[in-house]
This record gives sequence, C-alpha cells and structure tokens, in this order.
Amino acid sequence: MCGIIGFIGKNVKENLVQGLEKLEYRGYDSSGMVILHNHNFFVEKAIGSVEKLKEKVKDIEFDGIGIAHTRWATHGKITIENCHPHFSSDNNIAIVHNGIIENFEELKLKLEKSGKYFYGQTDSEVIAKLLSKRLTINKIKRLIGKIEGSYAIALISKNNNEIYFAKNKSPLYVAQGIDCSLIASDPCCFVSKCDKFYTIEDGEYGKISLNGLEVYNRNGEMIEKQAQQLNFFFKDTNKEKYSHYMIKEINESKNVLVNLIKRYQEKDIIKKLKGINIKKFNRIYLIGCGTAYHAGLVGEKYLKERFKIDVFTRKASEFFYQNDVLDEKSLCIFISQSGETADTISAMEETKKYKTLNVAIVNTEYSTLASKCDLVFPICAGQEKAVASTKAYFGQCLVLYIMASFLNGENFIEHLMSFKKDFDFGNDNKIMQLADLLINKNYIFFIGRGFDYITALEASLKLKEITYIFSYSECSGELKHGTLALINQGIPVIVIANDEKCFNKTLNNAYEVKSRGGELVLISSIDIDNEIENNFEYYIKIKDCESDLKPLQTIVVLQKLAYYTAIKKGLNPDKPRNLAKSVTVE
Ligand code: AGP
Ligand code: GLU
Repeated sequence: MCGIIGFIGKNVKENLVQGLEKLEYRGYDSSGMVILHNHNFFVEKAIGSVEKLKEKVKDIEFDGIGIAHTRWATHGKITIENCHPHFSSDNNIAIVHNGIIENFEELKLKLEKSGKYFYGQTDSEVIAKLLSKRLTINKIKRLIGKIEGSYAIALISKNNNEIYFAKNKSPLYVAQGIDCSLIASDPCCFVSKCDKFYTIEDGEYGKISLNGLEVYNRNGEMIEKQAQQLNFFFKDTNKEKYSHYMIKEINESKNVLVNLIKRYQEKDIIKKLKGINIKKFNRIYLIGCGTAYHAGLVGEKYLKERFKIDVFTRKASEFFYQNDVLDEKSLCIFISQSGETADTISAMEETKKYKTLNVAIVNTEYSTLASKCDLVFPICAGQEKAVASTKAYFGQCLVLYIMASFLNGENFIEHLMSFKKDFDFGNDNKIMQLADLLINKNYIFFIGRGFDYITALEASLKLKEITYIFSYSECSGELKHGTLALINQGIPVIVIANDEKCFNKTLNNAYEVKSRGGELVLISSIDIDNEIENNFEYYIKIKDCESDLKPLQTIVVLQKLAYYTAIKKGLNPDKPRNLAKSVTVE
C-alpha cells in the first residue's frame, strides 16, 4: 500500500515532499521523486523514511511537473533499484505505482525477450518498460489492457506537460487548485492547495494539467467527474503536546465517544439505522482485518446478546474460503478504519453477487469501501495516523454497540453518557511500571474469557506490532489444551478478567500458569482481596462500567501498555517496521 503523489505548479519539490509526509502512513520502506526540469528528469531516491529523501533534495527548487512515491514493498527487496519512480527503457517516461501487477512475470519475460533490460525486481517496473517516447491517452488505454491486478499509477514524460494516470482497485484522487494540479493516493494531500477533489474509479484513466482534467472510462469514453468537497476530516493534525501520534490518539478515544453521542442523534444517521430491518435477515456477517476484525468479534457479541440470529465474524482475507451462505437475507457489515483495505474491499465485492445488504463502518467516509456499500456509518474518530489502530478500534466497537442497541430499541445515548462520565484512561505510572517488567521479555501471553478473550486478541496485536515482542492470546479455558506447554519460568501471562460470572474459572486457569512458573499479571474491574492479589506479580484495576463497554474501558489501558513498552525499547510506535497504516494490496 504505497502512496503516490503528483504535482504540477510552483515549488514542485516542496509540494511533493509535503504529499509524501502525509502519505507515509501507507508505507515507509523507501521513497523517491522525479521532477521534469528543462526537458530532463531530476531523480532522487532514499531507503527508509521520507525524512531521508527530504534531506537529499533540500537544495533543489524547481517549478514544473513531478511525481513521487513512498513504498511498502510487495515485490523486490528494499533497495534503491526497486525504489519508485521507475523508468522506460528510453528513459523518456517515469511512473510511480501503488498496487500489485498480477501478470508482471509474464509481461517481464516477454519484454526481456524483446531486449528490454530490467534494473530492478519489482512488478511495477513492467509498467514503465511497456511504454516509450511520449505519453498519449491511447497509450494509457493500451497499457491498462495489458496489465492485470491493482494499480494507481501516475506517469510523466519528457515530451509531455501533463500527469497521466490510471486506476484499478488502489485508491486515486485528482484535484485542481488556482495555480496547481495534483494527483494522490489520499485527498489529505490536497489540503490547503485545493478545496475540491475528484475520485477516480476502477477502470478509469486520463491526464491532468494546469489547463484541465480529462478522464476516460474503461470503454474509452471521456466522462465528466463530480467534484467532492474537502471537508473537516482533512483538517491538518499534528502531535500537539504528545511525543507520538499513537499516545495522542489513545487519549482522543473519549473525544470519539463524545463525537458519536452527538452524531448518532442526528436525523440522517437515525434514518440509516432505521434502514436496517433486522427482522429481514437470518444471518449477519462482520468482516474486517486485524483490529477491525477484533471489533467485529465485539460486535458479534453485542448482536448475539440481543437477537436470536446467526452472527459470524470473518477475517476478510479468509472470507472467500468459508463457503458461507450469502443471499438477500444476509446482512454484511464491513469494518475498516481506512476504508481502503484491499482484503476487505475484495470481500465486499464478492458479496455483490448475492444481493446482500452491505453496511460499512468506517472512519474515512470518502473511501472506496464506503463508496461501494449500501449504508455507511462513520466512527467519527478524526484522522488516525499511527499505524497501530487505537481510537478507531474504540469507535468501531462503539458504533457496533450503538447499532445493536438501537435495533433492539435501547436508549444507547443514556448508556453512553454514563460511560463518558465515568470513563478512565488508567494510571499512566502504574502502566509504565508494568511496561518496565515486560521490555526484556521475549514472549508475552494474554488470556481471557468471552469479551476478555477478544480484548486479549486486540491487546496482543497492539503489543506485537509496535514492540516486536512475540505475543500470543488464548482463551483462558483453552490454555491447558496445549498452549500451556509453552509456559515456563518467568514467562508473563496477562490475565484479563472483568466478568464476575467466569472470574473464578479464569483464576483457576491463571493458577495453572503460576504453578508452572509463569508470571501473572491481572487486568480486572473486579475488586479482589489480598489473598488473590498476592498470586499476581502485578495488578491493574480497571474502572467498572456496564459489561458491554468493559472491552473499551480495558483496551485503552492495554493500548497504553503496548505504547509505553515500545518507547521504553526505543522504538517508534507510530511507524513500526514492515507495516503500513492502510493495506491496499491483498
Ligand atoms: C491494527 O493496529 C493494524 N494497523 C491493522 O491490523 C489494521 O487494523 C488492519 O490493517 C485493518 O485496517 P483498516 O481498519 O483500515 O481496514
Ligand atoms: N508492488 C509495488 C512494489 O513492490 C508497489 C507496492 C505497494 O503498492 O505497496 O514496489
């Protein structure tokens, strides 16, 4: 899920760098830019963060045309040769690409047989090698007839004054300002340069210049595009008083709650909620990836508590292999912060064949997923920039809680107001002390039952993705059926136990760990006596609240635990290695 940006106008370099900095959430393995200056290409590339490239280009100032790219590698190692932009054999054409060219090996073989030399190992390079001399709309049309897979491509040539583009599955947007034109993977790049933008749809291609925009559909017909307004969502945000976006966004969770209490009393949203006639459905599917999948698991419990209906939560990438029954009685709820996750979009495309009602729960309302679903419910979390999802998870679970409660005729506003009043972010010093116990561990386990098992899943994902400590979550009761073999002297097991009904059973499971040398940590909203507490190396009391909302009260503490552990290890929790914020490749 690389990020691409193109700019035509003054101070090209500056605008390309600004765009890359906003797109870096999409991948930061390497970055590069090419600027057309006096009919020649100025090229610079750098391994690592955009900061490295910025340093290399600090002394150049050109007006004109340029394209740039921040990479998350799918094909080809993280080397300068594989860093975008890529070039045609005659060096007249430069391209940047987000996506995967599924038939690149076949194309590369043909091109090599015809004498083309490839300097790199990426799939993207074949796009450039299929072109030469100058760019025309017909050449782009022929290009997209040859390549298969996902792509958002920007192209420039020494013999043109426009940026050409083509799009299929990967997001792509264009915009025109007073004295500039832009193309980007995310409209957030257009902020303070333009006030409206255009979404390029699958199969569309065209070119943009200072004089105008031409867009063609897959039949080769020129089409008119509807402009969309850049809205508050794109208000530029920074870290403010915080050291990292992640801790800022954790602390914004309560704002998400406040936003949702307000937003979900507005007429348009209530009308949409009423648009879900729950009696019409006999199956509900909740589909997402990673943290969004975990939010689905929480939503599954909310729905099953209230309705006698089969509810299934699916990892989007596994959705195709379940042979689920899908028909007009199936309600499919797609959960995605970015709304650009390729796995989730592909799962949604699959359901289109079956007349399901498709609902999107997203943070990004202009996203591809939102544009293709029947009903869209925002999580109102504002931009989430840290790769590790925190406030978005909070918002996803809350929207699922609101949906289930509303459909069950409950006064969810009253419940949320009470939750807001008593919400507690936990004691940072206590959490930091626990982090001190974990930083040198190589394995960390999380266990829990019911909602607490789901919280264990999400807490484990948070920890491993930003601290790189191996972490595993298991149902408390399942531990003794195999995983317990991994428990040895000094291995920490974090026990999440908020449910009175199964607290004693969970305690028993914890003691099975302790008797094998495991170090116990208790995370619980239940008041315990000293005798129990003495069995634990560490205990963090969670503020009590209604049972359905305990996962939310608990997860903020465990998100902070992951954050403090990462920074105590000297890591950057906002940009963990190998990952990206929005995974727009399958
Ligand atoms: C969560 O911390 C990860 N960044 C990742 O699992 C993420 O939740 C997943 O890629 C889904 O992203 P989405 O919500 O934008 O679809
Ligand atoms: N497949 C291209 C590469 O590996 C682009 C990757 C992406 O879009 O994440 O360079």
